[in-house]
Amino acid sequence: MHKKLFHVTGSLLLALIIVTNIQAQPSAPVADDFLPKDYLTKDFHAGRRDAARQMMPENSVMVVFAYPTRTFSNDVEYLYHQNPDMYYFSGYKEPHSVLLIFKDEQKDSLGNTYKEMLFVQKRNAQAEQWTGRRLGTEGAKEKLGIPMSFNGEDFANMNIEFSKFDKIIFDRFPDDVPNGFGKADLHDLIEQFKEKSKMPEKPGSDKRFDNRLYRDLTAQLREIKTPEEMSLIRKAVEISCRGQNEVMRTVHPDMSELEIQGLHEYVHKRYGAEEVGYGSIVGAGENGCILHYMENTKTKVGTSMILMDVGAEYHGYTADVTRTVPVDGKFSDEERTIYQLVYDAQEAAFKTLKDGSTWSDASKAAQDIIADGLLKLGIIKNRADVRKYYPHGLGHHIGLDVHDRGTYQKLKKDMVITIEPGIYIPEGSDCDKKWWSIAVRIEDDALITENGYELLSHFAPRKIEDIEKMIAEKSVLDNYKLPPLESGKKKGF
Ligand code: GLY
Ligand code: MN
Repeated sequence: MHKKLFHVTGSLLLALIIVTNIQAQPSAPVADDFLPKDYLTKDFHAGRRDAARQMMPENSVMVVFAYPTRTFSNDVEYLYHQNPDMYYFSGYKEPHSVLLIFKDEQKDSLGNTYKEMLFVQKRNAQAEQWTGRRLGTEGAKEKLGIPMSFNGEDFANMNIEFSKFDKIIFDRFPDDVPNGFGKADLHDLIEQFKEKSKMPEKPGSDKRFDNRLYRDLTAQLREIKTPEEMSLIRKAVEISCRGQNEVMRTVHPDMSELEIQGLHEYVHKRYGAEEVGYGSIVGAGENGCILHYMENTKTKVGTSMILMDVGAEYHGYTADVTRTVPVDGKFSDEERTIYQLVYDAQEAAFKTLKDGSTWSDASKAAQDIIADGLLKLGIIKNRADVRKYYPHGLGHHIGLDVHDRGTYQKLKKDMVITIEPGIYIPEGSDCDKKWWSIAVRIEDDALITENGYELLSHFAPRKIEDIEKMIAEKSVLDNYKLPPLESGKKKGF
């Protein structure tokens, strides 16, 4: 999901043209003392490239492009989000770039050997004055530890003999990469690659070009988390839980969905999480029945339950935690009954988890509980109808993507997955009215271990009595009151 905001380019072009004679001075980098201390290291990224190389077939090259930039409004771009594969293998966070990982050591005409090449955005003082610092080739060599780093515009003239490789492993391209500023933008780099490698027009007609292998290989790598990744995931998950807890303590019926979203995201940022890993879902009552509800426009959440599916992204790694809580502090009988059913389904799924178990073991355990429960309550008449009220899968991997790359076969030690059963009963459903507009999802993040799992999201309560207890607590945000707006008080124009 794209996230806003502001990355200014075009309208400022006019200003740029006017000042072309004035030499801009790019801003000095921020001193390390004032930057987070726990970024992934260049050794981590080098290790991931080596791990890829070990899995790559003989005489092959892997080609990883950055994600495209996207327009938010006229000359304003969405906040840029790097392709997680590019970030994983290089640590490079800027657009308009391409990374080549070679299986075997290569030699240039001067006899230098290398195993990878990175083409980055060229440094440009004027562009940097408007849109931010660039690492450039020197920065990429020093900070990312990739000696063969070049400007993107050198890609066209670089003698890379793609014809000599038995396999060219690359991901399919997004199908609408904008043609931005021409030379060495992503569009241009992709076109250069197609030309240099003589990629056939028809996908699949030359078996040397392999994007299935790209997906398999990156899935196998990324689904197993390293200790460095785990330390960031643990933070992302704890931060998300802290957001849930603070909102539980402060929530009241007069709040809007947007305000609640803002409180979660404030807590995330307070703890250093730069982003959310997906659009925050804050749905009161009936709105909880929309699985990916992101409008969050209800101005008063009222006394019903609120479903909050919000995940902090910390240095690229995202959590995915959902809590459903009664805004008035007490679950009604119907809310309690449905909540308990989802809780029991989640517990049943947890019990199956361990190295060597399967997704289907866990999914079946959860679905059986929900089907039996809904039958018993008379909400469904046939077990098969369970999918009407539980229409999604049990979970997914998390990591650099919220729905992270994975093979989805056996669960293995060091995978991190969500377990997120839910029941959603929209108004008008074919059951007793008393169940209408009840929506419950409980979503937790679990690390698979040799003999079981570790519940990473244990920081936020899940049990009915613990949630009610937390809602009754005071919050540091309770006294954070803003005065009403002045504008809009006068009627008419
Ligand atoms: N948290 C949103 C999802 O898992 O789809
Ligand atoms: Mn999820």
